[in-house]
Amino acid sequence: MACPLSDGIAEAHDQENDQFTEGPGMLYGEYLRLDKILTAQRLLSAEFNKEVHDEHLFIVTHQAYELWFKQIIYELDSVRALFNSEPNGYDSLNGTSNNHTVVQKNRVPQILNESRTLEILKRLNRIVLILKLLVDQVTILETMTPLDFMAFREYLCPASGFQSLQFRLLENKLGVKQEHRVKYNQSYTRAFGRDPKAIEAIKRSEEEPSLSCLVQRWLARTPGLEPHDFDFWGKYKRSVEKLLVEQEQHARKYTKEQIRNYHLANVHSRKAIFETIFNESLHNALVSRGERKFAYAALQGAVMITLYRDEPRFSQPHQILTALMDIDSLITKWRYNHVLMVQRMIGSQQLGTGGSSGYQYLKSTLSDRYKVFLDLFNLSTFLIPRHMIPPLTKQMKTKLSVACNGWNPDDNQNNSECTLDDT
Ligand code: HEM
Repeated sequence: MACPLSDGIAEAHDQENDQFTEGPGMLYGEYLRLDKILTAQRLLSAEFNKEVHDEHLFIVTHQAYELWFKQIIYELDSVRALFNSEPNGYDSLNGTSNNHTVVQKNRVPQILNESRTLEILKRLNRIVLILKLLVDQVTILETMTPLDFMAFREYLCPASGFQSLQFRLLENKLGVKQEHRVKYNQSYTRAFGRDPKAIEAIKRSEEEPSLSCLVQRWLARTPGLEPHDFDFWGKYKRSVEKLLVEQEQHARKYTKEQIRNYHLANVHSRKAIFETIFNESLHNALVSRGERKFAYAALQGAVMITLYRDEPRFSQPHQILTALMDIDSLITKWRYNHVLMVQRMIGSQQLGTGGSSGYQYLKSTLSDRYKVFLDLFNLSTFLIPRHMIPPLTKQMKTKLSVACNGWNPDDNQNNSECTLDDT
């Protein structure tokens, strides 16, 4: 098929390749819409007749970030749809509308089609690799000197990365909650006040189940949690109690009072920490303070997968948990690199072009409040030595060894009664 935009060379090319093509016969630049992308670098400094060489780098860097944000969101939407997929019927792999995979709100929690865990893992790992690239990309922009930046910064005002809709959507889709954000960042009208489409997209991303929510629903169904069956939590609790008794006995054996007291204090603080996962109301109090993010049953599932990760059936779930932590880690690293770059470019006393306190505001975002999978990081607190991990029953061992793809509907009778919130 002849390309309507092609010149003579393209036509000759078309004729040569006609026998190989069945599609619309577009050339490279056409297919990639390079006419749009490569003409989208508008140097404001040039428009003011004071062209600054480095403004080109500044624009291209931001555009590259936005393109990668787009890809991350695309993957994230598809992963959320996979977690949300119905066992039969709706095919979330292709369920896209307006570039956004449909993740339905308020639907009855569905059983994850476990044959898709490999696909989920693949896409999460892709997000991880993109984020690694984004963390490193900051250093390229750092080749611009603050003096060069100063030469065009005044033209940027009031534009700021603070108004990056995609960054905001990405955070929401991962599961950053409004109330956990730094105060300055809680009202999105500050950044998007005059853009009803942006506000609508943000609201939608807040209402749809986030990745965190979907992961929690899935974790809550971990086979082995059922109290009437393997009762992992009950067994684990007894192991922990035994461990703490042993540790206390051991601590009491120290003859020097100072050392004995040190070890006893350590055991008592461990007891208090374990109490917060065995007492659901203590756990919920931590959740309401933002110190924990996972629902109680989800935390139990995560502990179980971590302890029995060598069982074949928990191998992929364990890798999923690791990828989720990687995502949180890398976004935190990006924030950190960005803050350092900002300090280098504008110091710590100047306001940002978006109106915040600049460096000071960004520094305040470097905290656990933005870590969606915080509880996965803190799981190490609750590990017990291998020899104290409750042995699997024969039945449970078989359940976790079979090469079936993950959880089955009959694994956990509670799955249809999942009480985790939809958002
Ligand atoms: C010279 C380079 C840069 C400087 C001096 C800079 C400065 C700032 C400042 C001061 C803020 C706080 C909001 C404000 O008052 O403006 C901010 C926020 C932000 N910037 Fe940058 N930035 C730079 C590069 C980038 C790049 C390359 C990106 C990539 C997209 C980016 C993305 C963001 C995002 C997403 C926020 C919002 C963060 C949040 O609110 O948690 N910035 N930036």
